[in-house]
Amino acid sequence: MSDRNETPVKYAYKGANLISFGLSIKLLFTGYLTTIAAGYLMALIQILFTHGMADGKFGLSMDDIVYSYYGDRSGSVLESKLNGSMKYNAPEQERFKIIQWVRDGGDEVAYNKDIKPIVEQFCTGCHGANAGSLPDFTKFETLKKLTESNEGATFQSLTRLSHIHLFGISFIFMFVGIIFSFSTGVPCKYKYPAIVMPYLFLLIDIASWWLTKLNPHFALLVFFAGAGLGVSFAFMWTVSMYQMWILGGILKQSDRRNAIMRD
Ligand code: HEC
Repeated sequence: MSDRNETPVKYAYKGANLISFGLSIKLLFTGYLTTIAAGYLMALIQILFTHGMADGKFGLSMDDIVYSYYGDRSGSVLESKLNGSMKYNAPEQERFKIIQWVRDGGDEVAYNKDIKPIVEQFCTGCHGANAGSLPDFTKFETLKKLTESNEGATFQSLTRLSHIHLFGISFIFMFVGIIFSFSTGVPCKYKYPAIVMPYLFLLIDIASWWLTKLNPHFALLVFFAGAGLGVSFAFMWTVSMYQMWILGGILKQSDRRNAIMRD
């Protein structure tokens, strides 16, 4: 980037790069990158356990994404949850009794006779009056509502999730991007896209939730955008750690280039 014949002024920030930073900055950046990576891992596990179980099978598939956002319009939320992420909260027999009751129309008399005891035994421990954001199954009406056709994510929940993700994830990529900006020797054709892509993928990802809500074919876009986010994250993370600790640490390379100012 810079050549040796430049005026001294241009070297004012020389050595401002990941290889040459002092230990305090490296520790700070590494602490952040490590914590964020653990957070990313937790987010993936969370996706596996909620969306991943939407079709009742472990692992994320297109069906999971369609069920989560578009819904399974042939059935109810209660039934698909009992075959999905709530599958292991009640024994087979009890689950089938609830599902049968849902299919028979979710009648209140039958509920009080057969279903209420099951729900009280297996569900209200979590779905109780103080369950926070979880529906409260001590109220018949709440349970009844979930016996209706499953339309997937509601517009309310999509709005809530969208704004949290847009604010939260753009912050993550701001800091990961700043750290990665200090890398040297990464060809521009990789460096610039790596910095811009996360924001692009984030916007596509959020947009694709809404599109999948309207049309299940967009589930592919959810997959693609999520994978894109992951790849750009992994790339910036690995390059940054490698330059700080392998090149600048173990191999003790020196690098007088300035990574962030224009030449
Ligand atoms: C160990 C705690 C726990 C138990 C026990 C439990 N649930 Fe859940 N339930 C959750 C959590 C957490 C969620 C939200 C995450 C998800 O959707 O998987 C949830 C979500 C649901 C939802 C989706 C609610 C919505 O508004 O989308 C339904 C329906 C549901 N549970 C039904 C049941 C039924 C029926 C039982 C009893 C057989 C049960 N749950 C037992 C923790 C529990």
